[in-house]
Amino acid sequence: MKKRILSGMRPTGKLHLGHLVGALANWTKLQDEYDCLFMVADWHALMSEYENPGLLKDNMLDNVIDWLSCGIDPERSTIFIQSQVPEHLELYFIFSLITPLGLLERCPTYKEQLRQVVNRDLSTYAFLGYPVLQAADILLYKADSVPVGEDQLPHLELCRQIARKFNRLYKTACFAEPKALLTQTTRLLGLDGRKMSKSYNNYIALTDAPEVIRKKVQGMFTDPERIHVADSGHPDKCNVFSYYAAFSPALKDQVHERCTKAMIGCTECKKELAALLANLLAPIQEKRLAWQKDKKRIQEILSTGRQKASLLAKKTILEVRALLKI
Ligand code: TRP
Ligand code: SF4
Repeated sequence: MKKRILSGMRPTGKLHLGHLVGALANWTKLQDEYDCLFMVADWHALMSEYENPGLLKDNMLDNVIDWLSCGIDPERSTIFIQSQVPEHLELYFIFSLITPLGLLERCPTYKEQLRQVVNRDLSTYAFLGYPVLQAADILLYKADSVPVGEDQLPHLELCRQIARKFNRLYKTACFAEPKALLTQTTRLLGLDGRKMSKSYNNYIALTDAPEVIRKKVQGMFTDPERIHVADSGHPDKCNVFSYYAAFSPALKDQVHERCTKAMIGCTECKKELAALLANLLAPIQEKRLAWQKDKKRIQEILSTGRQKASLLAKKTILEVRALLKI
């Protein structure tokens, strides 16, 4: 039997290059080795977007189309929508019975979000429980491992603590502690050098046309010490170079050399990067067009995914209810 993994994404906007290197490229590879569940985390998204719920619906379909176009294979993997499997909320509540309040209040991601997000009111009861719902997502399917970025490690640690406490309290081995499968990638910064994020509008979307990509890349900052073309550059201080490093290991060394020896100017270097990215996205965008014409098939995929996920979820909930004598 293959080991199982579960991962999820919140449908809060279009997917971009950061999602590709941070998650999707990894997800597609993991399909060979693991039994995979990939979830659209719409409840998690609502925890911050509850004032504009309508926005999520379009994003959900759009994101799933991107997943499929990037190579998530519905024949091998289970693709489903969190809110369509009600057991997530049931387990979320059950776990909230046993999760110490202090653990949630001290969670670094929680404190950071409260500080950073200013245009939404996140001081809600549900948002505090964000990691509890995430623990429910993972343990509902008894996932062995969870592919996540480093930012999600505190949530995974909380999940492990909840599993441990549940087992101890109810004298059971119901939940094994899931492991983090850390995504090994160079962290890709946004076009402006800040964290790549929808709210900064500093990303290249997977759907961006070559012309859009060219404009965005031309606007990127380069090595600030390189003023004249004849100056040798410092690729390690240049965000453009980090994109080469992330997307073309083959070109990386070459660009490094041409930059440090002043054999290439930044305008040319960016032009080449834009072409590289457009080429990389072309096959994904082509597949996207095909999927967009086949919405019925996507509905079928989501419906099959829901059925497969439900079967597993129901089994776990029966077990948990019995342990709670409910
Ligand atoms: N919190 C995750 C994120 O923002 C999304 C998520 C929800 C998730 N449930 C999950 C990730 C379960 C892994 C496993 O990226
Ligand atoms: Fe950056 Fe390329 Fe300019 Fe070097 S040549 S500083 S890598 S944009």
